[in-house]
Amino acid sequence: MNLLGNLPIATFLKDYWQKQPLLIKQALPRFEAPISPDELAGLALEPEIESRIIQTQVGNQPWALRRGPFSEETFAELGDKDWTLLVQAVDHWVPEVAELLNTVSFLPSWRLDDIMISFAATGGSVGPHYDNYDVFLLQAEGTREWQLGGHCDSDTPLICHPDLQILEQFSAEQTYTLEPGDVLYLPPQIAHYGVALTPGMTFSIGFRAPAYADMIGLYADFIASELVAEQRYHDPELEENVKPGKIDATTLNRLRQQLLKVIDQPDKLAQWFGEHMTEPKYSTPPVLAKEQLEPAAITEISNLLQQGYQIILNLGARLAYSEINQELLVFADGVSVTTSKEALPIIQQLCERHPVTWHHLQSKSEAVLTLLATLCAMETVTIHDDDTDGSI
Ligand code: SIN
Ligand code: CO
Repeated sequence: MNLLGNLPIATFLKDYWQKQPLLIKQALPRFEAPISPDELAGLALEPEIESRIIQTQVGNQPWALRRGPFSEETFAELGDKDWTLLVQAVDHWVPEVAELLNTVSFLPSWRLDDIMISFAATGGSVGPHYDNYDVFLLQAEGTREWQLGGHCDSDTPLICHPDLQILEQFSAEQTYTLEPGDVLYLPPQIAHYGVALTPGMTFSIGFRAPAYADMIGLYADFIASELVAEQRYHDPELEENVKPGKIDATTLNRLRQQLLKVIDQPDKLAQWFGEHMTEPKYSTPPVLAKEQLEPAAITEISNLLQQGYQIILNLGARLAYSEINQELLVFADGVSVTTSKEALPIIQQLCERHPVTWHHLQSKSEAVLTLLATLCAMETVTIHDDDTDGSI
């Protein structure tokens, strides 16, 4: 089951992905929310979970933002109208919510960000705004009206607000009413304005797209960290008739060629990009300790798998891979591990959020077990005695 209903994936990718909005009525027919509004409010009490409440008006002031964690009293004070609770990365905490990630498996998993869930009381809204990311809005409970406007960018005027980026002007070009099981896909930069007609929940399956401004700096730092002091501008072919003070075209071209040569290393780019795109959203990347690769751990994992245990991808873990030359580069929560291509089907299995069992490992060499032991030590995967506890 995917989020596109009956629409062929190829049609979605060709005509809509990153191009234009799409309403998919009953994309998930008979959908029942795997979390209740009370459970969502319970998550917003936890200090390690990012949550916000947006009220459309407080006193004379429109649009107020409060950041969690909240207390039960906060919810008692809010009344029954005009507020929205937003809880980030619910897929990191609730396995049944994480299962919904499989409904967008026609898109690269490293492009996924998280599943944010909002509960809105009647009239609740976060205001007209635009996002720089693609999002699938799945109506999980109640009804919400979505008005869509035009294309926005960083020149589009916003109201003056310390915390929220709300559009100064909004005019609806399309209006949709979403009911449970309906999905609205929005590409980046499309103005949108959702208002709850009845109390209900919307699941936002959001994507990440790294900004050029961040990538340029981070990739340059990654390359620079491996350069040594003697690697620097050089001009052994300097010719006579130099004009003191003049930086001529030959010099600039020489500089350009030297810098491009340092930057244009496809294997380095692949390593950096895989590490960057699998960086965890909330925790810092794990540090690999030498003892984590000790043979004892490998023997233990092998024994447990033979007893029927399974290896599963942890909630919130980020896993990807690239095939580089004759090797497999595995990216796990911001760290890259080089291994043999023999591990490819196992890694693909985990990327699809399917458990790995002893059956999958038979006839594989110790290198594959070593990789799994490493991923266990990094807490990207866990070994379980069945697939019910925490498995997705
Ligand atoms: C909401 O759930 O109301 C906000 C989601 C969004 O606009 O991105
Ligand atoms: Co939005």
